[in-house]
Amino acid sequence: MNTTVSLRETILELKNQLNAVILAHYYQIPEIQDIADFIGDSLALSQKASEVENDVIVFCGVHFMAETAKILNPSKLVLLPDLQAGCSLADSAPAVDFAAFKARYPDHVVVTYINSTADVKMLSDVICTSGNAVQIVESFPRDQKIIFAPDRNLGSWINKVTGREMVLWNGACHVHDLLTTEAILKMRLNNPDAKVIAHPECNDAVLQVADYIGSTNGMIQYVKSDSHMLYIVASETGIIHQMQKEAPLKKFLVVPANETCSCNDCPYMKLNTLEKLYNCMVQQVPRIELADDVVARASRPIQRMLEISRSAGLV
Ligand code: 13P
Ligand code: SF4
Repeated sequence: MNTTVSLRETILELKNQLNAVILAHYYQIPEIQDIADFIGDSLALSQKASEVENDVIVFCGVHFMAETAKILNPSKLVLLPDLQAGCSLADSAPAVDFAAFKARYPDHVVVTYINSTADVKMLSDVICTSGNAVQIVESFPRDQKIIFAPDRNLGSWINKVTGREMVLWNGACHVHDLLTTEAILKMRLNNPDAKVIAHPECNDAVLQVADYIGSTNGMIQYVKSDSHMLYIVASETGIIHQMQKEAPLKKFLVVPANETCSCNDCPYMKLNTLEKLYNCMVQQVPRIELADDVVARASRPIQRMLEISRSAGLV
């Protein structure tokens, strides 16, 4: 029997023994996506994590996602296969610096992207994801002044879509921000029929050439329902696995991060492996642990996001 198959079976047995549920993000390696009980974008994963009744949540994603699961469902044991699975965007907003920035705008509310630490969430009025950012921002009156953090690309895209002038924190995701229009135009030369779809963490120049902009789940739903057959995808390589499953006859080309490969991998997302998933379930570490007051304060803006998303029919 091949080792991946037996490892997969062992993980599934272990899952039953622990009464665990495995949640995974679309950027995980295909083997992890295929073993997960639930795959989703940050919004769907947050909603799902808040509803879990199992004793253990094994979160195959990055740290801020597992941390959000713990905040939303603190009585559960939350495991993350590799504790080093961070996020360059969350790292771009250290809480101390962000608190000083916020103090300069006392009459602004703070809308924070979920790709942030619990400490930054505690300084926020409401959290958003790429799947609900426009609706969250639009839930405020038009004259309400807003700080948006930490992603300047997502923030400036929302400013454009809503006509607002939110003050933006200058952070970015190094995986999306590095993608270029030159790379896309080169691909289009060889694939003139291709449509371009992009995650809103991409820079403005890339978003300007996109036919569709949306969250990971938004992009998957788009290619499923759209009549085109060929897509240039400005996002992370892992998303292709579900796109190909949902639309098996269509072709997807990832915008490469550089000239040396045809992929664009998030090094943090790709730290999780089937072996590490197995090990974390056997040893029940690394686990996400948070002080009660952090859970209490960080959960308020996340719950507010879920409430707005429910009223907008997004979860
Ligand atoms: P989604 O919420 O769209 O899945 O995005 C998460 C993320 O980290 C994108 O880089
Ligand atoms: Fe963070 Fe970017 Fe990786 Fe998403 S792709 S987890 S934003 S570093």
